[in-house]
Amino acid sequence: MPYRILEKTKLADKVYSMVVEAPRLAKVRKAGQFVIVRPMETSERIPLTMVSSDPRGGVKLIFQTVGYTTMELSSLKEGGFVHDLVGPLGQPTEIPENGRVVCVGGGIGTAPILPIASALKAAGNRVKGIIGARTRELLILENEMREVCHELMIATDDGSYGEKGFVTTVLKKELESGNVDHVYIVGPIPMMKACAELAKEYNVPATASLNSIMIDGTGMCGGCRVTVGGKIRYTCVDGPEFPADQIDFDELRRRGGIYREYEHKCRLRAEEEGLG
Ligand SMILES: Cc1cc2nc3c(=O)[nH]c(=O)nc-3n(C[C@H](O)[C@H](O)[C@H](O)COP(=O)(O)OP(=O)(O)OC[C@H]3O[C@@H](n4cnc5c(N)ncnc54)[C@H](O)[C@@H]3O)c2cc1C
Ligand code: FES
Repeated sequence: MPYRILEKTKLADKVYSMVVEAPRLAKVRKAGQFVIVRPMETSERIPLTMVSSDPRGGVKLIFQTVGYTTMELSSLKEGGFVHDLVGPLGQPTEIPENGRVVCVGGGIGTAPILPIASALKAAGNRVKGIIGARTRELLILENEMREVCHELMIATDDGSYGEKGFVTTVLKKELESGNVDHVYIVGPIPMMKACAELAKEYNVPATASLNSIMIDGTGMCGGCRVTVGGKIRYTCVDGPEFPADQIDFDELRRRGGIYREYEHKCRLRAEEEGLG
């Protein structure tokens, strides 16, 4: 069934926000959950986090165009239709009450961390946010994160805004203060691995949301398999969030590269076709 695109905006270079009409999803979605989107009938299926619900009965998706399918999605216009949308998928984030938490979002990972920070604040936690990007122009959702965090810290690799350096530089200072009960992490794999190691060093529990390759999103195909605490888990049904100190990030990185050559060819095709 097609889903109408109520709104589409460009947030930064290669980053788009899209509100898709889906009243049932808008009502039931919880922080941490995602949908599997198929932009067109012929498209592959891709997982995207439901960032928020819209009062018009829509769910907001925020995505970066990294390959063929996200480029196809970005080519759709406001008023047009997404071919299908399946969800809510994945386990909702476990939300503690009245704790002191830090939410770290790197790059496009700021989109999935936003609903988590929002739910944590609503449950009475003291929420500090740390978001990072390579440079100021690539930073997204600063205002939205300010709204859902008691305090927001920013890091850019080139120092063009906020602290110069990585989100880990800022996280380390927070952990040193001793005032952190839990860390939530979403971003590129090396960043999540580094944050997980830091949190472990300070004996603070951490949760990371994994961006494994997914195909069906229902636990059938095994595409999203990860190793957590030495056991096989499926990101789509058991996750996407897992205890960060138990995740085999090296395996996640290796498995994420399985289709690199094919993805590269598809990306070139998308550019030739003028998508994205
Ligand atoms: C639970 C979950 C939630 C997600 N939420 C979001 C979101 O809210 N916004 C968003 O922009 N992306 C999100 N992603 C990542 C998104 O699904 C991928 O970027 C997308 O599948 C890429 O498809 P593609 O065909 O455009 O690119 P592909 O051709 O599949 O990949 C192109 C390149 O992008 C990178 N890539 C591919 N898949 C992923 C992935 N899963 N994660 C990170 N990098 C990848 C690789 O370097 C690859 O070579 C999420 C992933 C998961 C598992
Ligand atoms: S995506 Fe197929 S098992 Fe998770």
